[in-house]
Amino acid sequence: MIHPNHSSSSGTRRRLVAAWWPRLSLVAVVASAMALVIAACADRPAPTEPETVDLALAAQGRDIFRFDTFGDETFWTDTLRMHVVIASAVDPTTALAVGLKVDTDSLPAAVVRGIQDGSISLKSPATTVALLKLNAVVGVKGTVSTVAGRDTLVRVGITCALCHSTVDNSFAPGIGKRLDGWANRDLNPGAIIALSPALTAAQKAVYNSWGAGKYDPRYNFDGKNGPQVIPPAYGLLGVHKVTATGDGDELAYWNRYVGVTQMHGHGTFSESRTGVQVNNAPPDLVSSKLPALQAYQLSLSAPTPPAGSFDAAAASRGALVFAGAGRCASCHSGALLTDANVRLHAPSEVVSEPEQSGVPSYASRSATRMYRTAPLHGLWQHAPYFHNGSAATLEAVVELYDSRKHLGLSTQQKADLVQYLKSL
Ligand code: HEC
Ligand code: HEC
Repeated sequence: MIHPNHSSSSGTRRRLVAAWWPRLSLVAVVASAMALVIAACADRPAPTEPETVDLALAAQGRDIFRFDTFGDETFWTDTLRMHVVIASAVDPTTALAVGLKVDTDSLPAAVVRGIQDGSISLKSPATTVALLKLNAVVGVKGTVSTVAGRDTLVRVGITCALCHSTVDNSFAPGIGKRLDGWANRDLNPGAIIALSPALTAAQKAVYNSWGAGKYDPRYNFDGKNGPQVIPPAYGLLGVHKVTATGDGDELAYWNRYVGVTQMHGHGTFSESRTGVQVNNAPPDLVSSKLPALQAYQLSLSAPTPPAGSFDAAAASRGALVFAGAGRCASCHSGALLTDANVRLHAPSEVVSEPEQSGVPSYASRSATRMYRTAPLHGLWQHAPYFHNGSAATLEAVVELYDSRKHLGLSTQQKADLVQYLKSL
């Protein structure tokens, strides 16, 4: 078992106190104090100390998160033939249109100038190959060799950053500095996969139906089509149920699942509750990297709301609605605003089910068949909401709870509650 606390015996390692701890807003503290009272009947005591992360380990994990393919080139290159597709048809404009991001920190000044003055064409697939050679396409790892005197993309694979990093758009839309842990909600993974010549028309139709910001991490096993919103990989320190359905007790469980069964990296995954069993090893290129990869994600705190993005007075009133008339804190309890460490919830308790018509219940496809109460810090950053993205805004979230749970909130209470959610 990998657990951040297990490293606490080592006095030599630099460690970070959970970043959410000192940053809790007054509003959150008031709400958490109330939530604590409400959650007092829960069967496990709230932790008395914040958990910590080993920063040296997290630093190793950063490179794994950004650049490690776990050998998944055997799938993305040998099976899907994406290197051919990219080199022949994906110019940078097309790549940006399907949500791929470019990291300006990897670009030499001459390339930045060339893009600015137009001497480097964003309409040529050769430029994409050049960007891959510079390791500047977030989450895509290319190997470029000289073949017959020309730079040629010979291997391509993907990394965690493809879906769980974006950029700050400081140079241009889609081009800027990396923001790790922020879900790439512009990315259209289905449309990208559907470019592969190795798929049947029926498979392509499913992939093309997903849309931006969504991916179905179970379709390749159960054949059902119910894409999930790509969630943030930040703000999870102290949360011991991972994914929307709480399938694992720690991030490494799910990281192994995705690394082996979705990215198709080399390793093993076995889960008796769903019957999923995959063995892409040897070599095992996943297991040894999981502790560092997990530490890096746990070091990523949820981003604070931008100054002026919410009304503080309304948010304080909204905190009272959250703990009181809205009954939100009965599930969104404690400092992380979730009871995930204590219990999961049946689909009948959540407002995001039933799924839209024709889509199978996501919980029914999972290992737990339940939902985890979502932790709420950083909410302002990652619309749409719920596992299926069924609420486009926080206003829509509050309306949905009000009607489905018969809360009878006034217009004022609903508006205040929204401001509180924006303050987290
Ligand atoms: C193709 C897109 C994609 C890639 C690549 C990907 N993920 Fe995810 N990730 C998802 C989706 C979609 C979910 C939601 C699954 C669910 O809730 O059932 C998810 C869930 C997660 C979660 C759970 C967050 C929470 O709130 O509990 C974490 C953490 C995570 N991914 C980290 C990673 C890491 C680390 C990697 C690389 C090993 C990775 N992901 C690769 C799409 C992706
Ligand atoms: C019965 C327990 C329960 C109650 C009560 C509850 N929630 Fe939730 N909440 C959940 C669960 C479970 C999820 C995850 C559902 C999903 O992913 O589809 C969730 C998800 C959310 C999300 C989406 C988070 C995201 O990352 O997309 C928001 C926002 C939210 N709840 C706010 C509230 C507010 C506001 C209230 C009170 C009006 C409330 N909740 C009451 C259990 C609850």
